[in-house]
Formats: sequence, C-alpha cells, structure tokens
Amino acid sequence: MTTETALTATDLRLLAEAGGAAPSLHNSQPWRFRPTPDLLGLEVHADPRRAVPVADPDGRALHISIGAALFNLRVAAAHLGREAGVRLLPAGAGVQPCAVVDLSAPARAPEPFGKDLYRAIAARHSSRQPFTNRDVPEALVADLISAAQAEGVTLTMLEEHGVRRVLALTSEAEGRIAADLTRESETRRWLRLEPSYDGIPLAALGSHDHDARVPMRSFTGHPPHHTTPAGRFEALPQLAILTTHFDHPADWLRTGQAMERVWLLATVHGLRASVLHQAVEIPDTRWRLRDPADGPAHAQLVLRLGYGPPGAASPRRPVEDILDTPQA
Ligand SMILES: Cc1cc2nc3c(=O)[nH]c(=O)nc-3n(C[C@H](O)[C@H](O)[C@H](O)COP(=O)(O)O)c2cc1C
Repeated sequence: MTTETALTATDLRLLAEAGGAAPSLHNSQPWRFRPTPDLLGLEVHADPRRAVPVADPDGRALHISIGAALFNLRVAAAHLGREAGVRLLPAGAGVQPCAVVDLSAPARAPEPFGKDLYRAIAARHSSRQPFTNRDVPEALVADLISAAQAEGVTLTMLEEHGVRRVLALTSEAEGRIAADLTRESETRRWLRLEPSYDGIPLAALGSHDHDARVPMRSFTGHPPHHTTPAGRFEALPQLAILTTHFDHPADWLRTGQAMERVWLLATVHGLRASVLHQAVEIPDTRWRLRDPADGPAHAQLVLRLGYGPPGAASPRRPVEDILDTPQA
C-alpha cells in the first residue's frame, strides 16, 4: 500500500533536520539529502567536500556518520507516519547515493524502534563529562545489544580486561595521531571551519585505578573537562564495541545506523555516550581491538556509556546547505 502523498517542504525540512542532527567524525556532517523527483522519497548522498581523508582514508567513518543520519531519517519518517524502505548503495548510472529511502507507504507502527526515539534525536549529544560509577543495568544492556543486532551489527559490552585493553590501545593510537603533523593540520582545518570549536581538549578519562589515560576530542565549543582531575572520572569506564562480520561500505552504513539506534535508545533511558575513535583510525591498533575469541569480527566503533551530565549541543549546518531543492 502506498500513500502517494508527496512530501511537503515542511516534511523535507523535518527529515533533513533529523538527519543533520546525527553524530559525525569531527562534526564533519558529510551528508546531503536529495528528494526523489516524485517527492515520495529521499536520496542520501555523501558530500565529498566534507570528507576527512587523512584520518579516514577509506571513508569508513564517513559511511558510519551517514548511517547515523540515515537512522535518524527512518525515525523521523515514522514520526511523519511514513514507512522508510531503505536501499543501501543501489547500483546505477551517475553519482551514486549511499542510500535511497522510499517514503511512499504509511508507517506500519507509530514508533517502530521504541518509544520517544524521535524526541531523543535532538536531546542526544556526545557527553565527554565524568560519569558516575553506576552500572548500566543488565536489562538495558540487553536492549542495546538487541537494537544493534536489529541493524545487523554486534554490540559487546566489555569486561574489565577488555576495557583496559581498549583504553591502552586508544592511548597508544592517540599518541601516534598527535605526532602526525598532516593529520594534525587536517583536524585543525575542521576546527577552523567551525568557529565555535576552540580546540581539542585533551582530557584524561581514567582514574587512579588504571594506567590508561584516554584523551578525548570535543567539538562542542565548550571544552568540558581538560582541567577535570582524572580522579573525578568513573573508576572503570563502561565501554561497548560495535563489530561487523564483513568490512565493506554497506557494513559501515549499518554500523552507523546501529550506533545511532543504540545512542537514541540510551538517551531515552538517561544514559550518556561518547565515541572513542582513535584506535580504529590506525590499522594495526584497529586490528588489535578485536577480541580474537570473537572470530573474524571487524571493530568499527567504541562507545563509552554511563550516567552523568548531558553533553552540550554542537553546531550544525543550516538545512539549506544539506537539503537539495526538489527538481522541477
Ligand atoms: C565515526 C565517528 C567518530 C567519532 N570520533 C570521536 C572521537 O574520537 N572522540 C570524540 O570525543 N567524539 C568522537 N565522535 C563524536 C563527534 O565528535 C560528535 O558526534 C560531533 O562532534 C557532533 O557532536 P554530538 O555528538 O554532540 O552531536 C565521533 C563520531 C563519529 C560518528
């Protein structure tokens, strides 16, 4: 069944705003949304001007970011009463979209991904603040695992030895990244593009309990805690790793959708999150991130989860910059 009701300009803005609120590497926002000629769907394109080629030469993080925007579009589509039929990386002539979202059918369920996810899109921010030592409840962990699984991605909450291993690899990668001048100048270019970025606060995540101190990157314009004493951070961070069986662009788009689905669900439950990406940016630390016991899994993203203050909102490009006008 189709509604055959064309998307209005208001619908298109709502969809693009939701997509544009997604998290992205360096807040690069590497997406463009193009209405289909019949106005019954949207194409999601990568914006090559927003790529981060030194830190992300294969476009893996770019696809993860676009996947997150795509998941927000699906949630927003349900909010508009439409079913989102997604085709990833459709083949064809010309410039290829990362995804085509058919929005011609009415939604089968009002909130297909869980309650209040649409509101969570605007409420979700990276939180790089100290978290408390409160554990994420088992039942919520199980729901986060199921949310990722529904997108074809495995979420694993790490045990203590895994957390220490990942923190050590993140620190090692951070050191190598900081010593790489080309990469450093690329990051600074992103900082300049966003006037409200005022630097990369190298905050220590960690505590007296372990050696690994993990610098975190912030793009909110409010460097939160580089002066925060390490002792104020949670004793042992709660880290989750997202892995996929294969490592192709479609897997990266799925990872982004899973990350955002997990992050929005976490937000609904008052759980905060931030990304620790350094170790996946370097091939050999990325390889060592995977737990050999998991078989041929590819590490895609590390999320730090916990309870604490919300992160600050970070800037976004205006809708006019990310939404193409419908073709006549
Ligand atoms: C692929 C990817 C990698 C990221 N890497 C990091 C990171 O290493 N450190 C960090 O603090 N945030 C990281 N982020 C979060 C972004 O900086 C953040 O999403 C962006 O600045 C927008 O802010 P928001 O999440 O509050 O909306 C990453 C996000 C994505 C999607």
